[in-house]
Amino acid sequence: MAQDLREGALLGMGNPLLDISAAVDSNFLKKYDLNSNDAILAQEKHKPMYDELIDMYKADFIAGGSVQNTMRVAQWFLDKPRIATYMGCVGIDKYSKILEDKAQADGLNVRYQYTNKEPTGTCAVLITGKERSLCANLAAANCFLPSHIQEPENKRLIEVARYIYVSGFFLTVSPETIQMVARHAFENNKMFIMNLSAPFLCDFYKTPMLAALPYVDILFGNEAEADSFAKVNNFQTTDRKEIALKIHQMEKVNKKRQRVVVITQGVDNILVAKDSTVTEFPAIKLPEEKVVDTNGAGDAFVGGFLAQLIQGKSIEVCIKCGIWAATQIVQRSGCTYEGKPNFVL
Ligand SMILES: Nc1ncnc2c1ncn2[C@@H]1O[C@H](COP(=O)(O)OP(=O)(O)O)[C@@H](O)[C@H]1O
Ligand SMILES: [Mg+2]
Repeated sequence: MAQDLREGALLGMGNPLLDISAAVDSNFLKKYDLNSNDAILAQEKHKPMYDELIDMYKADFIAGGSVQNTMRVAQWFLDKPRIATYMGCVGIDKYSKILEDKAQADGLNVRYQYTNKEPTGTCAVLITGKERSLCANLAAANCFLPSHIQEPENKRLIEVARYIYVSGFFLTVSPETIQMVARHAFENNKMFIMNLSAPFLCDFYKTPMLAALPYVDILFGNEAEADSFAKVNNFQTTDRKEIALKIHQMEKVNKKRQRVVVITQGVDNILVAKDSTVTEFPAIKLPEEKVVDTNGAGDAFVGGFLAQLIQGKSIEVCIKCGIWAATQIVQRSGCTYEGKPNFVL
């Protein structure tokens, strides 16, 4: 294991959410005005959906939250617990207890902020075939305050971290916190890593997203997010390789290294823009019957990637581990795993 792999080397920040996951049909999506392969925030019209899923669709409750998933998967590959720290805001209720127990059992150093204003957030995960539609009711997750990272122990954990990862989802909650940790990363030559997370963020949260991007050393996104980003930013192309390259070339504050852009495309090739060229890596094709649900595929991909990155491995090894981790997770319900990973190059 690389020498700098110490407790707290990796820090993740995001929205801790309990997933309410169920297989539904396209009529259900239509009823609630949802698209497959999308991720949105719940509006008033979506509120009855959560109870309907629980009462009529035998929904499963699974620990979720994109960054928490990623941190759990990264930690899975590491021999020592508490290499990864996770911050986000939850309510004081049984849902946050489920989330925290899961995260701790998986070895994370969990540093939740607790609010008494809202219950812990939930995310409807609607599985239709191989696609997943996410509808997040942020609730407590939306109450995260920048004061959390000023608390002495949390401040210390930010100092200790060498790699900082935030989701695009967190842009709707605390862009101020993102700016603070991004600047801290730049000033201390740490890696700042982000995810586009959802097409709507590229559009309606374009301003805070573009404010964060110059600090981003590694950017992740899936095909829908890359397309949305390109459209909103007037790239004048639908060629995803070109899109990856253009994001790679956008302004960057830390000139010591170029930005790496990683676009996943479900079963299709992963695109990696690095050093002004795009390389493709094939996803591992699984027989139809082995894919249980693709919820968390992207989260797991980043988890596998980061586990190698923080050990100083090459981007190629990081990508291969990302693919391997994602392939495991799609063969199970939600972002879950069992036993020790047997990833070999
Ligand atoms: N149906 C699938 N079969 C095999 N691998 C998959 C499948 N869906 C996703 N993956 C793996 O997970 C990675 C991330 O999936 P993707 O759907 O692009 O992310 P997201 O979950 O963010 O939408 C892919 O690059 C691939 O390695
Ligand atoms: Mg996908």
